[in-house]
Amino acid sequence: MPAQPASARPPLFTWEFAADPYPAYAWLREHEPVHRTTLPSGVEAWLVTRYADARQALADGRLSKNPVHHSEQAHRTGRVGIPGERQADLMTHLLNIDPPDHTRLRRLVSKAFTPRRVAAFEPQVQRLTDRLIDGFAARGSADLIHEFAFPLPIYAICDLLGVPAEDQDDFRDWAGMMLRHTKPGQGGGQRGGVGRAVKRMRAYLAELIHRKRADLGDDLISGLIRASDHGEHLTENEAAAMAFILLFAGFETTVNLIGNGVYALLRNPGQRALLQESVARGESALLETGIEELLRYDGPVELATWRFATSPLTIGGVEIPVGDPVLVVLAAADRDPARFADENTLDLARTDNPHLGFGHGIHYCIGAPLARLEGRAALATLLTRLPDLRLAADPEELRWRGGLIMRGLRELPVEFTPE
Ligand code: HEM
Repeated sequence: MPAQPASARPPLFTWEFAADPYPAYAWLREHEPVHRTTLPSGVEAWLVTRYADARQALADGRLSKNPVHHSEQAHRTGRVGIPGERQADLMTHLLNIDPPDHTRLRRLVSKAFTPRRVAAFEPQVQRLTDRLIDGFAARGSADLIHEFAFPLPIYAICDLLGVPAEDQDDFRDWAGMMLRHTKPGQGGGQRGGVGRAVKRMRAYLAELIHRKRADLGDDLISGLIRASDHGEHLTENEAAAMAFILLFAGFETTVNLIGNGVYALLRNPGQRALLQESVARGESALLETGIEELLRYDGPVELATWRFATSPLTIGGVEIPVGDPVLVVLAAADRDPARFADENTLDLARTDNPHLGFGHGIHYCIGAPLARLEGRAALATLLTRLPDLRLAADPEELRWRGGLIMRGLRELPVEFTPE
């Protein structure tokens, strides 16, 4: 292959890019920090890659989340948004709406999905984590994505929402269908399998909400039904869309937090040893800063979800026409050397770390406390129970799921001394 000139931009949205997007992002940050690109779906969009621009764009009210504002061209291709969500009743969820509707719904869901509820859930997450590790600990080998990182968040959110145990494997199957259909640069695949999975999940949730309304418990779905603000409640449709978005937004993200996180630790033995020693001493400080650093270093959400310019604006000196989609590249912003010293170094003890892995502004991740809880339980328990955990594959051969929005490993083969 002829050598590329030093200034050529590495290609975007290829398999190689999915395996390591950071050289391309470094190039963009330096040469074209606000870059117009054609996505694999054919939609033209702006990529915002510098930290300062990204943070500002995430909080800019002129960038709407409502797909109604996307340009004709994006509209024609129908390739924006969450797969399967074009079913009208799923459209009204937090990631798709602006104030004042967003303010109202977020306030209502915040009344039910409280940090207190999440903290009380800790023993259950620990039991779940141990149960999954029990499934492979005696074997001496495992695929940590399929056997651990993938089921943990699905079962955790199902438990939290109040999905009965006997139905949770259906969710595991539907979620699996969603993951399998992701190709580099696509939004998770709007194709048949995903659409069907979303439809079944949606129908199940609607039915569950209907049943729970008559018999409220102390699960999150009952909490959503009960939540009221100045006499306002969620409608059944809104509660179903909310339960769906909690599942959807909290599932693949957490799979990737655990998968990318364990992988980063296995590739950085010095940092892994520090964390392992700290966990063995029963300390929590390094685990806590470590989760934040893993979110910064190789976070699950590569690009924030779609935003659309509702009035002309400039980002980083570049004019964005009305209707154009803007994608804020969190993974690029979080490695911006203008904000993070030694940006490409994993430093679990990093404290000056205002990463954008959970977003910023009014759409800041409402599930962050749950994600952190699951991440801490997963890493601490793996390192404690399987202390000589090691990669059982050539890193070059690992396959990455490079969806447009998220990025994570398809599999993570490991070996260890059987328990
Ligand atoms: C929003 C990341 C886990 C529910 C967001 C956003 C990001 C994000 C970046 C903002 C998107 C934007 O502005 O376009 C993550 C990461 C997670 C995670 C990295 C795991 C490590 C969860 C969990 C849940 C959840 C566990 C729920 C169970 C949501 C919801 C929103 C959101 C509902 C929309 C909030 C709003 O628009 O007001 N998340 N998330 N996330 N996240 Fe998470």
